[in-house]
Amino acid sequence: MSESQVWDAVDAYFTARLAPDDEVTTAALRDSEAAGLPQVNVTANQGKLLQLLAQIQGARTILEIGTLGGYSTIWMARALPADGRLISLEYSPRHAEVALRNIARAGLDKVVEVRVGPALDSLPLLADENPPPFDLVFIDADKANNEHYLEWALRLTSTGSLIVVDNVVRSGRVVDADSAEGDVRGTRSAIELIGSHPRLSGTAIQTVGTKGYDGFALARVLA
Ligand code: SAH
Ligand code: DHB
Ligand code: MG
Repeated sequence: MSESQVWDAVDAYFTARLAPDDEVTTAALRDSEAAGLPQVNVTANQGKLLQLLAQIQGARTILEIGTLGGYSTIWMARALPADGRLISLEYSPRHAEVALRNIARAGLDKVVEVRVGPALDSLPLLADENPPPFDLVFIDADKANNEHYLEWALRLTSTGSLIVVDNVVRSGRVVDADSAEGDVRGTRSAIELIGSHPRLSGTAIQTVGTKGYDGFALARVLA
């Protein structure tokens, strides 16, 4: 077996035992693929990690930046109480339309709201509404804006909130300090902000699996 075949096999084993897809998440993936959406959703075992993090947080409110077909949305929203709220920001009306169908089929349409448009337009409008602080923020959109998303996340959270940033490794490209790529620069700026901000305590972890070699950053909001 090649290295990536081993990663696939281990993900398949962990997912089957610990984080199996059910009819609703399977249908969400099937319909997202049928609609031609890019297959860059989190894996099932990563979705389960997000769900566990939401539960550990005792989350009542979750903000997601980057909905795609709503797959990660469903995993996280399932951790919310019936009166909880998840707001997910998505640039593409086509992605949002697929996501809304998947979310409704999951019975989560009372809990989840998808707001369409560039997140950097939606975030100031959201802040103007003075929403209660979000207990969990999942940043998973255009990586070039990761630092800006992190800054908004700081404004929309409070002590004890958790911020998760996806795709911070990208096969190791994150270590290229001279990279001209927007996603690498945006992610490096976000990592450096986590490391230097007085109100953040964070770390980052490399992962391998079905989606290749990548990773997450986690940051807890301090007082
Ligand atoms: N969180 C999803 C995957 C998101 S993929 C999951 O794991 O299931 C990234 C998404 O971010 C795509 O749907 C893309 O359209 C969206 N996106 C890209 N640029 C954006 C922007 N400026 N504002 C909001 N969403 C954006
Ligand atoms: C891409 C985006 C993601 O959110 C992800 O998890 C993997 C890949 C991408 O745009 O390539
Ligand atoms: Mg991602």
